[in-house]
Amino acid sequence: MRAGRFIFVLVAGLALLAIAGYFGLTQTTRSWFERDLELRSTLAVASARQGLMANWGAASTRLSETLTDITRDERIMAAAACSSTGELLASTDAYPTQFSCRSVLERMQEESPGSPTWSMTPELPSGPIHLSVTRLDGAGDPLGAIVLVHDLSFVSRREATTRNLLTLAFFVMALAASLFTLLAVRFAWRGWTSDLQRALTGAAPREFQPLVRDVRELAKRLAMEHEREAWGGLWSPDRLRATLTQHLQGERVVILANREPYIHEKRPDGVAVLHPASGLVTALEPVMRACSGVWVAHGSGTADRETVDEHDRVRVPPGEESYSVRRVWLSEEEENGYYYGFANEGLWPLCHVAHTRPVFRSEDYEHYVRVNQKFADAVCQEVDSDDPIVMVQDYHFALAPNMIRSRLPRATIISFWHIPWPNAERIGICPWREELLSGLLGSSIVGFHTQQHCNNFLDSVDAFMESRIDRESNAVVQGARRTLVRPYPISIEWPVHWLDGAPSVSEARAGVRAELGLAKDALLGVGIDRLDYTKGIEERLSAVDTLLARHPDLRGKFSFVQLAAPSRTKIPMYRELNERVEALASEINAKWSQGSYRPIILLRSHHEPAAVFRYYRAADLCYVSSLHDGMNLVAKEFVAARDDERGVLVLSQFTGAARDLTEALIVNPYDLRQASDALAAALDMPVEEQRERMRSMRRLVSEFNVYRWAGKMLADAAELRRKERLVGRFSSSAVLSRRGIA
Ligand code: F6P
Repeated sequence: MRAGRFIFVLVAGLALLAIAGYFGLTQTTRSWFERDLELRSTLAVASARQGLMANWGAASTRLSETLTDITRDERIMAAAACSSTGELLASTDAYPTQFSCRSVLERMQEESPGSPTWSMTPELPSGPIHLSVTRLDGAGDPLGAIVLVHDLSFVSRREATTRNLLTLAFFVMALAASLFTLLAVRFAWRGWTSDLQRALTGAAPREFQPLVRDVRELAKRLAMEHEREAWGGLWSPDRLRATLTQHLQGERVVILANREPYIHEKRPDGVAVLHPASGLVTALEPVMRACSGVWVAHGSGTADRETVDEHDRVRVPPGEESYSVRRVWLSEEEENGYYYGFANEGLWPLCHVAHTRPVFRSEDYEHYVRVNQKFADAVCQEVDSDDPIVMVQDYHFALAPNMIRSRLPRATIISFWHIPWPNAERIGICPWREELLSGLLGSSIVGFHTQQHCNNFLDSVDAFMESRIDRESNAVVQGARRTLVRPYPISIEWPVHWLDGAPSVSEARAGVRAELGLAKDALLGVGIDRLDYTKGIEERLSAVDTLLARHPDLRGKFSFVQLAAPSRTKIPMYRELNERVEALASEINAKWSQGSYRPIILLRSHHEPAAVFRYYRAADLCYVSSLHDGMNLVAKEFVAARDDERGVLVLSQFTGAARDLTEALIVNPYDLRQASDALAAALDMPVEEQRERMRSMRRLVSEFNVYRWAGKMLADAAELRRKERLVGRFSSSAVLSRRGIA
């Protein structure tokens, strides 16, 4: 079809060329012929001049004979002799009578006065003729003129021959060109097709690589759109479940994370179930409810041992029991070395730019190795096939992926690093950097929140490991093993189940203000964090201080409530932070309190998610001021909580969330003036603007929810699994055929 169109254009072009060539050629040859005839006429008259002069005044018969002699030339049809006054003196028989001497000489005088010769090419019914006039002078006096008539029909005949030849040439050329084109297209097409086929199956020649990338992107987009349509837009637990079963033929996943989603705690009145303050748990618990399977975690609650079965498992969530938590027990020594020591005094400050020096003790690292092995063994006990899907979470388990891989070589291991990955120079200060990298490279996929963290990881591998970095597909290749390194910005469930039956925004506003002893119309800001030095809590409180100093009208009206869950309090750094935050809150309160008014309300205790969501809904603004944060899900939770489309998010530029939630007021938390300006702007923001910003952020969080986060990783893992299976099939059939078996 396409070749047909091309040939049509080619033939039309050739036809146009042939027509233009024909007209150009006839014009030129005709002018050559005419000039030729003029020359012949002049020569004929010149050679007969003597006879003509001699017979000019004589009897017309003698002159006629001379004219007849001239017409013996085969091309000269007729001749006439005219007197200078325009009378016909003599002519041959064939002379066309319509061209009288007078009329011819008059036209010559008009068109070419004073010229010795003149010609014209009129058309007669018998065909075209050439009529030339040559003046004849005798001893200085004009005698008259000789008119010669040439037959031009031979020119027409030649033109017809030229036309026929050109038409024939055109047809031959058109045929040949079409044939060659078809052959060339066929050969080129065959080449392109096989190149393209090779390209799409992985061996793309260099020049095809951009095209292949585009085709793959398009295919991915189309598949996504198709899936989106099939599932009515948003990612949901059902869609995630379907991704798991359709793409991975898996029924369940095994998650490995240090923190357990449900902690059983002894209370005077029995056992309480707590939901820990952890972004990791916030994100993964809904995924686990959707997928089912086992969550392997440290049993850290005081009543945890009493609530497990003989396999150390407990079914959760209470009342729903859709998946299991497998608890791993740690001695105090192990917990101190692995969790408090290497993970939280070493890796945590190493990965966060928060100006706390990492502490690396080899005893801690030894515990870290042993505990990673302990958890890896527990994972291997929980799997139900030799190619399970295992999702390893966070910096507590950098070594576990390789340990699992050595026992389950066919497992699909997805590791997700919930905190930033620093640059290669910084990771280089860790005495066990190679071990950490090698441990993580046991994974099929290593995920981070941002592309920047992926780049840092790849640079670190490049700097410290023997491997090949495939920058094209963001993968690390070690022998036959390939680890994809991809950004998967984490998120929260949508809709948030904690909002089911939650008080309305106006109830929450009134209730929280009453509880905190604030006026009904008090302006309220909220901060929700674990008490951690990376969260910038001191900078946050100082920004409130600066706000009140610069805006006296807000004193007595604006309060900031900080919910701070105590965290890692065994570590001196954290204990000192507790004290510093407490002291700073008191100092600011002492400065600005009036009567019962306190600008800072510090609630240093664990709050269950339902209570946290009540605060989000009661607040006029939420300030997330992390000094460095992989993502920060508090920012996304605040957005999810505000179904009234009100409230303003003030967000640190050093969080991963700032890349997604661009409609927040983005600040540098170290810049107290800028942060206080943002707080003031938030308190003063017109309702319409609040709505517009909130609506846009809600759209983003709802679409890019945690089901999508997990779904994307599972889909990539499925793709990898499919490729590995194909490569495996190819290499085993190659081995068999080399051995002459297949
Ligand atoms: O930020 C990474 C993260 O794992 C969070 O998910 C969680 O809030 C925190 O670190 C770990 O807290 P914890 O030490 O209390 O488990």
